[in-house]
Amino acid sequence: MIPAAIDLDLQSVRRQFPALGLRIDGRPVVYLDNPAGTQVPQRVIDRTTSYWQTMNANQGGVFATSERSDALMLEVRAAAAAFVNADSPEEIVFGPNMTTLTFAVSRAIARELRAGDEILVTRLEHDGNVSPWLALQEQGIIVRFADIKTPECTLDLDDLRRQLTARTRLVAVTHASNVVGTIPDLPAVASAAHAVGAWMWVDAVHYGPHGSIDVQALDCDFLVCSSYKFYGPHLGILYGVANCWSGCGPTRSGRPATSCRAAGRPAPRTMRASPACSAPSSTSPILAGRRWSGGKRSRRPCSESRRTSRRWRRACSPASN
Ligand SMILES: Cc1ncc(COP(=O)(O)O)c(C=O)c1O
Repeated sequence: MIPAAIDLDLQSVRRQFPALGLRIDGRPVVYLDNPAGTQVPQRVIDRTTSYWQTMNANQGGVFATSERSDALMLEVRAAAAAFVNADSPEEIVFGPNMTTLTFAVSRAIARELRAGDEILVTRLEHDGNVSPWLALQEQGIIVRFADIKTPECTLDLDDLRRQLTARTRLVAVTHASNVVGTIPDLPAVASAAHAVGAWMWVDAVHYGPHGSIDVQALDCDFLVCSSYKFYGPHLGILYGVANCWSGCGPTRSGRPATSCRAAGRPAPRTMRASPACSAPSSTSPILAGRRWSGGKRSRRPCSESRRTSRRWRRACSPASN
């Protein structure tokens, strides 16, 4: 069905985007490479400029610009949490883009996998949601592909269910195909994945600019999108359900956190372990407090995971930085 036309003052929308006023060789430009990202409105330019002018600092310092910078980071995490309907800003991690975040998490998860464990991806995926998982084949992880139904190019849910096994650890699936625009039934994928104790990883890069994201309704464990696709700066946004990150100490404390301790206040939450921060080589922040042992909200940490969490805390404690 064709949606009803919306009453939009296009000229006033266009005026918000300075790049649309650009002229090259005296002629107005037309941007056709939209997968490369959106142009940004003046308010995004103003906000980023104001960061450089009034709060450009490293994190965790006890001086005004650093405190402003930390406060802004918390504000942006809260906004990102609202954007994907996460329970809490603690569930949000930033990184350079979707692909980099996916590689970071796949490597972190891989530390806890054994040869013969399986990752299930689908034939609907962008390469950013395939290569990071294929890279794990080097250590004996098996990567399977769920098929699509043609000619409609939708995810074949029956095939996906057939490919799930007791060794499936994670199902990586797109929220919408960037090639054909079809939208898989993600709650159905989540319930199939959780039934075998696997996590669900959702690539919402293409869906993000077109629909509202609701990680709770999807019942996914991870979701990643990129703000440069929806008028923001070039940045990846990762949601991970709360207990994926629990038990992680700071990994990049160094001097600013020392300043925090000297001033008698804790290091800012933004410095806690995450794929966006450097992780110690021994354990994974992702898995602290959580193992593959059932459905998302009901999954309970197993003892090995608690040990991992303790090791992780020791490895990340400020004294070891
Ligand atoms: C569906 C989808 N997933 C992932 C990506 C990769 O995103 P990023 O550039 O943030 O790594 C793209 C890029 O166009 C995409 O369309």
